[in-house]
Amino acid sequence: MSDMSETKKNRLSGVVRAQIDQWMTRYPAEQKRSAVIAALTFAQEENKGWLSEELMEAVAEYLDMPRIAVFEVATFYTLFNLKPVGRHIINVCTNISCMLCGCDKIVEHLQTKLQVQFNETTQDGKFTLREVECLAACAGAPMFQIGKKYYEYLTPQKVDAILEELE
Ligand code: FES
Repeated sequence: MSDMSETKKNRLSGVVRAQIDQWMTRYPAEQKRSAVIAALTFAQEENKGWLSEELMEAVAEYLDMPRIAVFEVATFYTLFNLKPVGRHIINVCTNISCMLCGCDKIVEHLQTKLQVQFNETTQDGKFTLREVECLAACAGAPMFQIGKKYYEYLTPQKVDAILEELE
């Protein structure tokens, strides 16, 4: 029996492994685990925005880390999704400034329009709605984030126009 048949193939794609390898050049060789957040991010991006248990295990294996340590990171940060999500994640801030500026109307509008509650995904798989803490854009309250973009001074009409633009 050859060594290859005994070696379990890592589930990370060649592209993701190359991205991780590139990232790891920033750290000393014995500090591979410093790349865990980046590695999880790359794996998630390639997997339609979420991390399966198998992918987290693959990251652990690739970085020579205990699985539990990788799971701890993935479950701590809200930027990691542990179940399938929509193509667009709408992160609505409901913290104090946004609350004082009427985010409840934005939330109500979104929930009615999309027919979902927080942490749910629309039937067509387009949007996942989330409630988040302050995103440090209080001066533009009420606001939400979709992808890497912030949308501020929201009104129901503005929300409609924003969602309309997204594929
Ligand atoms: S309270 Fe909403 S961005 Fe700060």
